[in-house]
Amino acid sequence: MAGQKTFYLETFGCQMNVHDSEKVIGTLEQQGYARVETEEAADLILYNTCSIRDKAEQKVFHRLNDTKALYKQGKRFGVLGCVAQQEGERIFERAPFVSLVSGSASYRRLPEMLVQIEQGATRVTGLDDRQTEETFETEFTARSNPHRGYITIIEGCDKFCAYCVVPYTRGKERSRRSESVLAEARRMADSGFTEIQLLGQNVNSYRDPEGKRSFAELLAAVGEVPGIRRVRFTTSHPRDFTRDIVEAIDAVPSLCDHVHLPVQSGSSKVLRMMAREYTREQYLERIGWIKGARRAISMTTDVIAGFPGETAEDFEETLALLDEVQYDGVFAFKYSPRPNTPALSMPDSIPDEEKSKRLQILLDRQREIQRANYEKHVGQVLEAMVEGMNPARGQVVGRTSQNKTLNFTAAQPIAPAPGVYVPVLVTKAFPNSLVGEAVQ
Ligand code: 5AD
Ligand code: SF4
Repeated sequence: MAGQKTFYLETFGCQMNVHDSEKVIGTLEQQGYARVETEEAADLILYNTCSIRDKAEQKVFHRLNDTKALYKQGKRFGVLGCVAQQEGERIFERAPFVSLVSGSASYRRLPEMLVQIEQGATRVTGLDDRQTEETFETEFTARSNPHRGYITIIEGCDKFCAYCVVPYTRGKERSRRSESVLAEARRMADSGFTEIQLLGQNVNSYRDPEGKRSFAELLAAVGEVPGIRRVRFTTSHPRDFTRDIVEAIDAVPSLCDHVHLPVQSGSSKVLRMMAREYTREQYLERIGWIKGARRAISMTTDVIAGFPGETAEDFEETLALLDEVQYDGVFAFKYSPRPNTPALSMPDSIPDEEKSKRLQILLDRQREIQRANYEKHVGQVLEAMVEGMNPARGQVVGRTSQNKTLNFTAAQPIAPAPGVYVPVLVTKAFPNSLVGEAVQ
């Protein structure tokens, strides 16, 4: 690669970040950079960062500390994403060898920022675009999986939950035109993708700027693109979760049987303190719509344990809600105080030990719920999309429409390739995965 500009990029955080990185990689390649696999081989080292919890944020500073010696070899460093936006120019103080700091709302301007760096600028920033109405659209997305790909339909967040940094790191809520989303979906289908995952911090808060389609209508339209067999969407906000989303799933077979609907707490009091703008009852009403669908729709959620002021009774309400809903998966986190957020000024009243205890109780309870839920699939034939092989176990790794891992054996001499859809008889269940045999 003599003479060619090279870059290394590592991603921390959520699917939005993973997909942003795919767009950043595409943009850099378009600017004549080649991606390399190690920091040592790169001219430009980029970290796309996450600041959702303190632990996530600390990761990038540890990483920078581990690699900063490379600066002496003339390599340049860039910090992108949520920590970049949150910490801004303070990053230059903390890590003076960094030359680029950019939040996601400024990625449209990456080409010009890259030119500045190439010209020797040492403090290039993209931090002032959080009020933008623009989304980052590029035809140069370097998708890492040729079968299953993301499309961002809405960026930013206007919800301002009391605990959350995202409105400050990703800026104002802004949707893409549904025509542009559909054009991208068609292009992907034409190049062989069969699964599309629509992304947004609050994906169902989507509002077509041209007013042509509601979120549910956009879902259905993506599901009807010829060649697309599976459509997923994440993450839904309960406040904007409308019944027509469930109706769309019932009507369009390619829409997957899965809704991720973060509840955060089962106590209406805590939900009010979190500024979630729904009560326990309103949340359960939406769960009722999902359970009332003709198809069996799997549900997963996010929960925060130990939000300021959460009493033992409040926490009990969350446990009771898990029992009532019967989720197929729960992502649970200890509350972590974040800069700029309203909850930061509420006394962080729950000791860390107590947070850990609650988290463990919750995970233990949920494990038993999942054990029973997953067990119900034994004897069913489910369609698995092949993701790869687990050579150690001699199993093919697949995923069901409900987003469950289904590991299976196939009698054919050659294992089915990634991206292939295979009917599988489920023979065994664990709390987090299913095991089966391909049906001939
Ligand atoms: N502390 C702990 N968990 C948080 N989340 C968001 N902010 C915080 C925080 N300050 C969790 C929420 C959200 C998920 C992505 O991360 O549950 O849904
Ligand atoms: Fe992390 Fe939230 Fe930013 Fe995603 S949007 S990278 S979860 S802080």
